[in-house]
Amino acid sequence: MSKSDFGLIGLAVMGQNLVLNVESRGYSVSVFNRTTSVTDEFVAAHSDKKIQGFASLADFVASIERPRKIMMLVKSKAGADPSERDAVDAVIESLVPLLEPGDLVIDGGNTYFIHTERRAKELEAKGFLYIGTGVSGGEEGARKGPSIMPGGSEQAWKMIQPIFEAISAKVNGDPCVTHIGKGGAGNYVKMVHNGIEYGDMQLICEAYQIFKTAGITTDEMAQIFDQWNQGELESYLIQITSKIFTIKDEITGQPLVEQILDRAGQKGTGRWTVQSAAENAVVISTINAAVEARILSSMRDQRLVAAPQFSGPEPKIDLPKDVLVQKVHDALYASKIISYAQGLDLIKKVGEAHGWDLKLGSIARIWRGGCIIRARFLNRITEAYERNSDLVNLMLDPFFKDILNKNQESWREIVSLGVLNGIPMPAFSASLGYYDSYRSARLPANLLQAQRDFFGAHTYERLDRPEGEFFHTEWPEVIG
Ligand code: 6PG
Repeated sequence: MSKSDFGLIGLAVMGQNLVLNVESRGYSVSVFNRTTSVTDEFVAAHSDKKIQGFASLADFVASIERPRKIMMLVKSKAGADPSERDAVDAVIESLVPLLEPGDLVIDGGNTYFIHTERRAKELEAKGFLYIGTGVSGGEEGARKGPSIMPGGSEQAWKMIQPIFEAISAKVNGDPCVTHIGKGGAGNYVKMVHNGIEYGDMQLICEAYQIFKTAGITTDEMAQIFDQWNQGELESYLIQITSKIFTIKDEITGQPLVEQILDRAGQKGTGRWTVQSAAENAVVISTINAAVEARILSSMRDQRLVAAPQFSGPEPKIDLPKDVLVQKVHDALYASKIISYAQGLDLIKKVGEAHGWDLKLGSIARIWRGGCIIRARFLNRITEAYERNSDLVNLMLDPFFKDILNKNQESWREIVSLGVLNGIPMPAFSASLGYYDSYRSARLPANLLQAQRDFFGAHTYERLDRPEGEFFHTEWPEVIG
Protein backbone atom coordinates (compact mmCIF):
# COMPACT_ATOMS: atom_id res chain seq x y z
CA MET A 1 0.00 0.00 0.00
CA SER A 2 1.31 3.50 -0.77
CA LYS A 3 2.53 5.73 2.03
CA SER A 4 0.20 8.25 3.67
CA ASP A 5 0.64 12.03 3.55
CA PHE A 6 -0.37 12.53 7.17
CA GLY A 7 -0.71 10.54 10.39
CA LEU A 8 -3.10 11.08 13.28
CA ILE A 9 -2.99 9.56 16.76
CA GLY A 10 -6.12 9.71 18.91
CA LEU A 11 -9.45 8.88 17.35
CA ALA A 12 -11.86 10.59 19.75
CA VAL A 13 -14.53 12.77 18.15
CA MET A 14 -12.17 15.65 17.24
CA GLY A 15 -9.55 13.25 15.87
CA GLN A 16 -12.03 11.38 13.68
CA ASN A 17 -13.46 14.58 12.26
CA LEU A 18 -10.05 16.07 11.59
CA VAL A 19 -8.98 12.90 9.72
CA LEU A 20 -12.10 13.13 7.53
CA ASN A 21 -11.38 16.80 6.89
CA VAL A 22 -7.73 16.15 5.89
CA GLU A 23 -8.75 13.23 3.68
CA SER A 24 -11.48 15.25 2.00
CA ARG A 25 -8.81 17.75 0.83
CA GLY A 26 -7.02 15.05 -1.16
CA TYR A 27 -4.52 13.75 1.40
CA SER A 28 -4.13 10.13 2.45
CA VAL A 29 -4.12 9.52 6.20
CA SER A 30 -2.80 6.82 8.55
CA VAL A 31 -4.54 6.54 11.91
CA PHE A 32 -3.68 5.01 15.27
CA ASN A 33 -5.67 4.80 18.49
CA ARG A 34 -4.68 3.19 21.78
CA THR A 35 -7.85 1.08 21.75
CA THR A 36 -7.56 -0.78 18.47
CA SER A 37 -11.29 -1.54 18.15
CA VAL A 38 -11.92 2.22 17.73
CA THR A 39 -9.44 2.30 14.83
CA ASP A 40 -11.03 -0.76 13.24
CA GLU A 41 -14.55 0.64 13.49
CA PHE A 42 -13.51 4.04 12.15
CA VAL A 43 -11.60 2.61 9.18
CA ALA A 44 -14.42 0.17 8.39
CA ALA A 45 -16.98 2.99 8.44
CA HIS A 46 -14.84 4.90 5.91
CA SER A 47 -13.53 2.08 3.74
CA ASP A 48 -14.18 4.20 0.62
CA LYS A 49 -11.60 6.77 1.75
CA LYS A 50 -7.82 6.98 1.69
CA ILE A 51 -7.53 6.11 5.38
CA GLN A 52 -5.36 3.28 6.72
CA GLY A 53 -5.63 2.06 10.32
CA PHE A 54 -2.92 0.34 12.36
CA ALA A 55 -2.87 -1.67 15.57
CA SER A 56 0.86 -1.14 16.10
CA LEU A 57 2.45 2.27 16.48
CA ALA A 58 5.55 1.07 14.61
CA ASP A 59 3.46 0.03 11.58
CA PHE A 60 1.57 3.31 11.77
CA VAL A 61 4.81 5.36 11.70
CA ALA A 62 6.30 3.22 8.93
CA SER A 63 3.19 3.80 6.79
CA ILE A 64 3.72 7.58 6.58
CA GLU A 65 5.71 9.34 3.85
CA ARG A 66 8.97 10.93 5.06
CA PRO A 67 9.53 13.52 6.40
CA ARG A 68 6.51 12.45 8.44
CA LYS A 69 3.78 14.73 9.68
CA ILE A 70 2.14 13.15 12.70
CA MET A 71 -0.55 14.89 14.71
CA MET A 72 -1.55 13.83 18.22
CA LEU A 73 -5.05 14.59 19.47
CA VAL A 74 -4.57 13.24 22.93
CA LYS A 75 -6.09 14.75 26.04
CA SER A 76 -3.51 16.81 27.92
CA LYS A 77 -3.85 17.14 31.68
CA ALA A 78 -0.55 18.73 32.75
CA GLY A 79 -1.18 22.29 34.01
CA ALA A 80 0.94 25.17 35.24
CA ASP A 81 3.33 22.92 37.19
CA PRO A 82 6.34 22.38 34.86
CA SER A 83 7.20 19.03 36.44
CA GLU A 84 3.82 17.50 35.51
CA ARG A 85 3.75 14.81 32.81
CA ASP A 86 0.69 13.44 31.00
CA ALA A 87 -0.58 11.24 28.18
CA VAL A 88 1.00 13.50 25.53
CA ASP A 89 4.43 12.79 27.05
CA ALA A 90 3.65 9.08 27.03
CA VAL A 91 2.74 9.14 23.33
CA ILE A 92 5.86 11.15 22.46
CA GLU A 93 8.01 8.73 24.41
CA SER A 94 6.70 5.77 22.43
CA LEU A 95 6.90 7.67 19.13
CA VAL A 96 10.48 8.92 19.44
CA PRO A 97 12.31 5.61 18.83
CA LEU A 98 10.25 5.13 15.66
CA LEU A 99 10.87 8.56 14.11
CA GLU A 100 13.64 9.69 11.77
CA PRO A 101 15.36 13.07 11.59
CA GLY A 102 13.22 15.78 10.00
CA ASP A 103 9.92 14.19 11.07
CA LEU A 104 7.32 16.58 12.48
CA VAL A 105 5.21 15.88 15.56
CA ILE A 106 2.16 18.09 16.14
CA ASP A 107 0.17 18.36 19.35
CA GLY A 108 -3.35 19.53 18.46
CA GLY A 109 -4.81 19.45 21.97
CA ASN A 110 -5.48 22.16 24.53
CA THR A 111 -2.03 21.89 26.09
CA TYR A 112 -0.62 24.28 28.68
CA PHE A 113 2.06 26.13 26.69
CA ILE A 114 5.00 25.50 29.02
CA HIS A 115 4.78 21.80 28.22
CA THR A 116 4.83 22.54 24.49
CA GLU A 117 8.00 24.60 24.96
CA ARG A 118 9.62 21.76 26.91
CA ARG A 119 8.60 19.06 24.43
CA ALA A 120 9.71 21.17 21.44
CA LYS A 121 13.16 21.58 22.98
CA GLU A 122 13.46 17.88 23.75
CA LEU A 123 12.39 16.79 20.28
CA GLU A 124 14.38 19.43 18.40
CA ALA A 125 17.50 18.31 20.27
CA LYS A 126 16.91 14.88 18.73
CA GLY A 127 16.56 16.28 15.20
CA PHE A 128 12.75 16.28 15.01
CA LEU A 129 10.37 19.18 14.47
CA TYR A 130 7.54 20.06 16.83
CA ILE A 131 4.39 22.14 16.72
CA GLY A 132 1.84 22.84 19.46
CA THR A 133 -1.32 24.06 17.81
CA GLY A 134 -4.68 25.31 18.92
CA VAL A 135 -7.58 23.87 16.95
CA SER A 136 -10.91 25.52 17.58
CA GLY A 137 -14.36 24.86 16.28
CA GLY A 138 -15.59 21.77 18.07
CA GLU A 139 -16.73 18.69 16.23
CA GLU A 140 -18.19 20.54 13.26
CA GLY A 141 -15.17 22.80 12.90
CA ALA A 142 -12.79 19.84 12.92
CA ARG A 143 -14.79 18.24 10.09
CA LYS A 144 -15.54 21.27 7.93
CA GLY A 145 -12.86 23.81 8.79
CA PRO A 146 -11.48 24.88 12.16
CA SER A 147 -9.49 27.93 13.12
CA ILE A 148 -5.92 26.72 13.61
CA MET A 149 -3.31 28.41 15.81
CA PRO A 150 0.08 26.73 15.31
CA GLY A 151 3.21 27.60 17.28
CA GLY A 152 6.71 26.32 16.58
CA SER A 153 9.72 26.93 14.36
CA GLU A 154 9.37 28.49 10.91
CA GLN A 155 10.68 25.25 9.38
CA ALA A 156 8.03 23.17 11.15
CA TRP A 157 5.29 25.61 10.09
CA LYS A 158 6.39 25.53 6.44
CA MET A 159 6.13 21.74 6.47
CA ILE A 160 2.53 21.67 7.68
CA GLN A 161 1.33 24.95 6.14
CA PRO A 162 -0.24 23.42 2.97
CA ILE A 163 -2.30 20.87 4.92
CA PHE A 164 -3.35 23.35 7.62
CA GLU A 165 -4.36 25.93 5.01
CA ALA A 166 -6.33 23.28 3.11
CA ILE A 167 -8.29 22.06 6.15
CA SER A 168 -8.89 25.38 7.93
CA ALA A 169 -12.04 27.50 7.75
CA LYS A 170 -11.99 30.26 5.11
CA VAL A 171 -13.32 33.79 5.37
CA ASN A 172 -13.61 35.36 1.92
CA GLY A 173 -11.12 32.74 0.73
CA ASP A 174 -8.66 33.71 3.48
CA PRO A 175 -7.58 30.62 5.51
CA CYS A 176 -8.17 30.85 9.27
CA VAL A 177 -4.65 29.76 10.10
CA THR A 178 -1.38 31.61 10.49
CA HIS A 179 1.98 30.88 12.06
CA ILE A 180 1.31 32.38 15.50
CA GLY A 181 4.93 32.37 16.67
CA LYS A 182 7.64 30.11 17.98
CA GLY A 183 7.55 27.75 20.96
CA GLY A 184 4.30 27.64 22.92
CA ALA A 185 2.79 30.72 21.23
CA GLY A 186 0.06 28.73 19.44
CA ASN A 187 -1.13 26.93 22.55
CA TYR A 188 -0.98 30.17 24.53
CA VAL A 189 -3.14 32.04 22.04
CA LYS A 190 -5.61 29.14 21.94
CA MET A 191 -5.76 29.14 25.76
CA VAL A 192 -6.64 32.84 25.81
CA HIS A 193 -9.13 32.22 22.98
CA ASN A 194 -10.83 29.81 25.37
CA GLY A 195 -10.70 32.37 28.19
CA ILE A 196 -12.44 34.84 25.87
CA GLU A 197 -14.92 32.08 24.97
CA TYR A 198 -15.70 31.74 28.71
CA GLY A 199 -16.26 35.53 28.91
CA ASP A 200 -18.58 35.58 25.88
CA MET A 201 -20.61 32.65 27.21
CA GLN A 202 -20.99 34.13 30.69
CA LEU A 203 -22.05 37.53 29.30
CA ILE A 204 -24.72 35.82 27.21
CA CYS A 205 -25.90 33.87 30.27
CA GLU A 206 -26.22 37.09 32.28
CA ALA A 207 -28.26 38.71 29.50
CA TYR A 208 -30.52 35.62 29.53
CA GLN A 209 -31.01 35.91 33.30
CA ILE A 210 -32.06 39.56 33.06
CA PHE A 211 -34.57 38.69 30.35
CA LYS A 212 -35.87 35.78 32.37
CA THR A 213 -36.28 37.98 35.46
CA ALA A 214 -38.15 40.52 33.32
CA GLY A 215 -40.61 37.79 32.33
CA ILE A 216 -39.43 37.42 28.73
CA THR A 217 -40.15 33.90 27.50
CA THR A 218 -37.64 31.54 25.96
CA ASP A 219 -39.45 31.74 22.63
CA GLU A 220 -39.14 35.53 22.73
CA MET A 221 -35.46 35.18 23.63
CA ALA A 222 -34.95 32.96 20.60
CA GLN A 223 -36.24 35.84 18.47
CA ILE A 224 -34.21 38.48 20.30
CA PHE A 225 -30.98 36.52 19.88
CA ASP A 226 -31.82 35.74 16.28
CA GLN A 227 -32.26 39.45 15.65
CA TRP A 228 -29.02 40.25 17.46
CA ASN A 229 -27.36 37.74 15.19
CA GLN A 230 -28.31 39.91 12.20
CA GLY A 231 -26.46 42.92 13.65
CA GLU A 232 -23.20 43.93 15.26
CA LEU A 233 -23.39 41.09 17.81
CA GLU A 234 -23.50 38.48 15.03
CA SER A 235 -21.50 35.50 16.25
CA TYR A 236 -21.53 31.74 16.51
CA LEU A 237 -22.32 31.82 20.25
CA ILE A 238 -25.29 34.22 19.81
CA GLN A 239 -26.53 32.06 16.93
CA ILE A 240 -26.40 28.77 18.85
CA THR A 241 -27.97 30.42 21.90
CA SER A 242 -30.91 31.52 19.79
CA LYS A 243 -31.27 27.92 18.55
CA ILE A 244 -30.97 26.50 22.09
CA PHE A 245 -33.98 28.62 23.13
CA THR A 246 -36.17 27.02 20.46
CA ILE A 247 -35.62 23.43 21.62
CA LYS A 248 -38.34 21.82 23.73
CA ASP A 249 -37.75 19.01 26.20
CA GLU A 250 -39.29 15.76 24.93
CA ILE A 251 -40.38 14.69 28.44
CA THR A 252 -41.95 17.88 29.81
CA GLY A 253 -42.65 19.83 26.64
CA GLN A 254 -40.99 22.81 28.36
CA PRO A 255 -37.92 24.59 26.94
CA LEU A 256 -35.05 22.12 27.26
CA VAL A 257 -32.71 24.81 28.59
CA GLU A 258 -34.93 25.15 31.68
CA GLN A 259 -34.56 21.44 32.46
CA ILE A 260 -30.76 21.54 32.47
CA LEU A 261 -28.98 21.52 35.82
CA ASP A 262 -27.31 24.89 36.51
CA ARG A 263 -23.88 23.47 37.31
CA ALA A 264 -21.23 24.41 34.73
CA GLY A 265 -18.28 22.22 33.87
CA GLN A 266 -14.83 23.31 32.79
CA LYS A 267 -11.80 21.48 31.57
CA GLY A 268 -9.19 24.00 32.67
CA THR A 269 -8.24 26.39 29.86
CA GLY A 270 -10.21 29.30 31.40
CA ARG A 271 -8.58 28.71 34.77
CA TRP A 272 -5.13 28.52 33.14
CA THR A 273 -5.82 31.87 31.44
CA VAL A 274 -6.61 33.45 34.79
CA GLN A 275 -3.51 31.89 36.40
CA SER A 276 -1.29 33.17 33.63
CA ALA A 277 -2.84 36.65 33.81
CA ALA A 278 -2.18 36.81 37.56
CA GLU A 279 1.42 35.65 37.07
CA ASN A 280 1.95 38.39 34.48
CA ALA A 281 0.04 41.12 36.36
CA VAL A 282 -2.53 41.57 33.58
CA VAL A 283 -6.16 42.38 34.45
CA ILE A 284 -8.64 40.05 32.78
CA SER A 285 -11.51 40.70 35.18
CA THR A 286 -14.27 39.70 32.74
CA ILE A 287 -12.68 36.33 32.01
CA ASN A 288 -11.92 35.90 35.70
CA ALA A 289 -15.57 36.63 36.54
CA ALA A 290 -16.61 34.04 33.97
CA VAL A 291 -14.34 31.38 35.45
CA GLU A 292 -15.55 32.19 38.97
CA ALA A 293 -19.18 32.16 37.83
CA ARG A 294 -18.65 28.57 36.68
CA ILE A 295 -17.09 27.70 40.04
CA LEU A 296 -20.00 29.32 41.94
CA SER A 297 -22.48 27.47 39.76
CA SER A 298 -20.76 24.22 40.67
CA MET A 299 -21.36 24.98 44.39
CA ARG A 300 -25.01 24.14 43.88
CA ASP A 301 -25.42 22.22 47.14
CA GLN A 302 -24.32 25.27 49.12
CA ARG A 303 -26.49 27.58 47.04
CA LEU A 304 -29.55 25.46 47.72
CA VAL A 305 -28.88 25.67 51.47
CA ALA A 306 -28.20 29.42 51.32
CA ALA A 307 -31.16 30.39 49.10
CA PRO A 308 -33.87 30.41 51.79
CA GLN A 309 -31.57 32.00 54.41
CA PHE A 310 -30.55 35.26 52.76
CA SER A 311 -32.77 38.10 51.73
CA GLY A 312 -32.68 40.08 48.51
CA PRO A 313 -35.02 42.38 46.63
CA GLU A 314 -38.27 41.29 45.04
CA PRO A 315 -37.32 41.48 41.33
CA LYS A 316 -39.18 44.17 39.46
CA ILE A 317 -38.12 45.20 35.98
CA ASP A 318 -40.64 47.52 34.45
CA LEU A 319 -38.81 48.85 31.40
CA PRO A 320 -40.75 48.33 28.16
CA LYS A 321 -39.50 45.17 26.49
CA ASP A 322 -38.01 46.83 23.42
CA VAL A 323 -36.15 49.36 25.58
CA LEU A 324 -34.78 46.63 27.84
CA VAL A 325 -33.67 44.52 24.86
CA GLN A 326 -31.79 47.45 23.32
CA LYS A 327 -30.10 48.37 26.61
CA VAL A 328 -29.03 44.77 27.29
CA HIS A 329 -27.73 44.60 23.72
CA ASP A 330 -25.63 47.73 24.27
CA ALA A 331 -24.37 46.56 27.66
CA LEU A 332 -23.46 43.17 26.23
CA TYR A 333 -21.59 44.73 23.31
CA ALA A 334 -19.62 47.08 25.57
CA SER A 335 -18.79 44.26 28.01
CA LYS A 336 -17.67 42.07 25.13
CA ILE A 337 -15.31 44.78 23.89
CA ILE A 338 -13.76 44.95 27.37
CA SER A 339 -13.39 41.17 27.53
CA TYR A 340 -11.55 41.08 24.18
CA ALA A 341 -9.45 44.12 25.13
CA GLN A 342 -8.35 42.25 28.26
CA GLY A 343 -7.65 38.95 26.48
CA LEU A 344 -5.65 40.69 23.75
CA ASP A 345 -3.75 42.67 26.37
CA LEU A 346 -2.76 39.39 28.02
CA ILE A 347 -1.62 37.93 24.70
CA LYS A 348 0.34 41.11 23.93
CA LYS A 349 2.13 41.26 27.28
CA VAL A 350 2.97 37.56 27.54
CA GLY A 351 3.98 37.50 23.87
CA GLU A 352 6.41 40.34 24.51
CA ALA A 353 7.80 38.64 27.62
CA HIS A 354 8.48 35.47 25.60
CA GLY A 355 9.73 37.23 22.47
CA TRP A 356 7.02 35.57 20.40
CA ASP A 357 6.54 38.62 18.14
CA LEU A 358 2.77 38.12 18.00
CA LYS A 359 0.63 39.99 15.50
CA LEU A 360 -2.66 40.72 17.23
CA GLY A 361 -4.30 41.71 13.94
CA SER A 362 -3.45 38.34 12.37
CA ILE A 363 -4.74 36.53 15.45
CA ALA A 364 -8.06 38.41 15.25
CA ARG A 365 -8.13 37.62 11.52
CA ILE A 366 -7.89 33.84 11.99
CA TRP A 367 -10.56 33.97 14.71
CA ARG A 368 -13.09 35.36 12.20
CA GLY A 369 -14.01 31.88 11.01
CA GLY A 370 -14.06 28.31 12.25
CA CYS A 371 -13.59 28.91 15.96
CA ILE A 372 -16.09 29.10 18.80
CA ILE A 373 -15.68 32.87 19.27
CA ARG A 374 -16.06 33.66 15.56
CA ALA A 375 -17.98 36.89 15.17
CA ARG A 376 -18.58 39.79 12.82
CA PHE A 377 -16.93 41.98 15.46
CA LEU A 378 -13.56 40.28 14.81
CA ASN A 379 -13.44 42.06 11.44
CA ARG A 380 -13.51 45.32 13.38
CA ILE A 381 -10.69 44.11 15.65
CA THR A 382 -8.61 43.10 12.63
CA GLU A 383 -9.19 46.57 11.16
CA ALA A 384 -8.21 48.23 14.45
CA TYR A 385 -4.81 46.51 14.37
CA GLU A 386 -4.44 47.31 10.66
CA ARG A 387 -4.94 50.97 11.59
CA ASN A 388 -2.39 50.70 14.38
CA SER A 389 -0.39 47.52 14.93
CA ASP A 390 1.01 48.98 18.19
CA LEU A 391 -2.41 49.69 19.67
CA VAL A 392 -1.87 49.82 23.45
CA ASN A 393 -5.41 48.68 24.26
CA LEU A 394 -8.30 47.78 21.96
CA MET A 395 -10.51 50.25 23.87
CA LEU A 396 -8.39 53.11 22.53
CA ASP A 397 -9.12 52.33 18.87
CA PRO A 398 -11.50 55.05 17.56
CA PHE A 399 -14.17 52.54 16.47
CA PHE A 400 -14.33 50.79 19.84
CA LYS A 401 -13.88 53.99 21.84
CA ASP A 402 -16.93 55.37 20.11
CA ILE A 403 -19.07 52.34 20.97
CA LEU A 404 -17.96 52.36 24.61
CA ASN A 405 -18.75 56.06 24.90
CA LYS A 406 -22.15 55.59 23.25
CA ASN A 407 -23.11 52.48 25.22
CA GLN A 408 -21.81 53.36 28.66
CA GLU A 409 -25.10 54.82 29.85
CA SER A 410 -27.17 51.75 28.96
CA TRP A 411 -24.42 49.58 30.36
CA ARG A 412 -24.65 51.34 33.74
CA GLU A 413 -28.45 51.09 33.72
CA ILE A 414 -28.32 47.35 33.09
CA VAL A 415 -25.68 46.70 35.77
CA SER A 416 -27.74 48.85 38.20
CA LEU A 417 -30.86 46.94 37.23
CA GLY A 418 -29.03 43.73 38.09
CA VAL A 419 -27.84 45.07 41.43
CA LEU A 420 -31.26 46.48 42.39
CA ASN A 421 -33.02 43.27 41.43
CA GLY A 422 -30.52 40.90 43.04
CA ILE A 423 -29.48 39.38 39.71
CA PRO A 424 -25.84 38.27 39.86
CA MET A 425 -24.01 39.90 36.94
CA PRO A 426 -20.34 39.27 37.64
CA ALA A 427 -19.09 39.60 34.05
CA PHE A 428 -21.15 42.69 33.10
CA SER A 429 -20.06 44.40 36.35
CA ALA A 430 -16.41 43.37 36.05
CA SER A 431 -16.29 44.80 32.52
CA LEU A 432 -17.86 48.07 33.63
CA GLY A 433 -15.50 48.26 36.61
CA TYR A 434 -12.54 47.85 34.26
CA TYR A 435 -13.90 50.55 31.96
CA ASP A 436 -14.37 53.00 34.83
CA SER A 437 -10.94 52.25 36.31
CA TYR A 438 -9.23 52.53 32.94
CA ARG A 439 -10.80 55.92 32.23
CA SER A 440 -9.98 57.30 35.71
CA ALA A 441 -7.21 59.87 35.65
CA ARG A 442 -7.07 59.52 39.43
CA LEU A 443 -7.81 56.35 41.37
CA PRO A 444 -7.92 56.09 45.17
CA ALA A 445 -4.54 54.36 45.20
CA ASN A 446 -3.10 57.48 46.87
CA LEU A 447 -4.87 56.41 50.06
CA LEU A 448 -3.65 52.86 49.56
CA GLN A 449 -0.07 54.09 49.34
CA ALA A 450 -0.59 56.10 52.53
CA GLN A 451 -1.87 52.97 54.29
CA ARG A 452 1.13 50.95 53.09
CA ASP A 453 3.47 53.63 54.26
CA PHE A 454 1.66 53.88 57.61
CA PHE A 455 1.96 50.23 58.58
CA GLY A 456 5.05 49.17 56.69
CA ALA A 457 7.09 52.26 55.76
CA HIS A 458 6.67 51.22 52.11
CA THR A 459 7.09 54.86 50.99
CA TYR A 460 5.09 56.81 48.39
CA GLU A 461 5.64 59.15 45.47
CA ARG A 462 4.18 62.70 45.36
CA LEU A 463 2.17 64.39 42.64
CA ASP A 464 4.33 67.49 42.90
CA ARG A 465 7.70 65.68 42.64
CA PRO A 466 9.27 63.59 39.82
CA GLU A 467 8.23 59.92 39.64
CA GLY A 468 10.78 57.62 41.22
CA GLU A 469 11.42 59.90 44.22
CA PHE A 470 10.13 58.17 47.33
CA PHE A 471 8.87 59.71 50.57
CA HIS A 472 8.04 58.37 53.97
CA THR A 473 5.96 59.93 56.71
CA GLU A 474 6.23 58.95 60.36
CA TRP A 475 2.43 58.73 60.51
CA PRO A 476 2.03 57.85 64.22
CA GLU A 477 4.37 60.73 65.16
CA VAL A 478 2.54 63.23 62.96
CA ILE A 479 -0.76 62.11 64.45
CA GLY A 480 0.79 62.46 67.88
C1 6PG B 1 -12.85 25.23 20.89
C2 6PG B 1 -13.26 24.96 22.30
C3 6PG B 1 -12.75 23.63 22.76
C4 6PG B 1 -13.50 23.11 23.96
C5 6PG B 1 -13.21 23.86 25.20
C6 6PG B 1 -14.31 23.73 26.20
O1 6PG B 1 -12.21 26.25 20.71
O2 6PG B 1 -13.17 24.44 20.01
O3 6PG B 1 -12.77 25.95 23.15
O4 6PG B 1 -11.37 23.74 22.92
O5 6PG B 1 -14.85 23.10 23.71
O6 6PG B 1 -12.05 23.33 25.74
O7 6PG B 1 -13.80 24.05 27.41
P1 6PG B 1 -14.54 23.81 28.76
O8 6PG B 1 -14.88 22.36 28.85
O9 6PG B 1 -13.53 24.23 29.76
O10 6PG B 1 -15.76 24.67 28.72
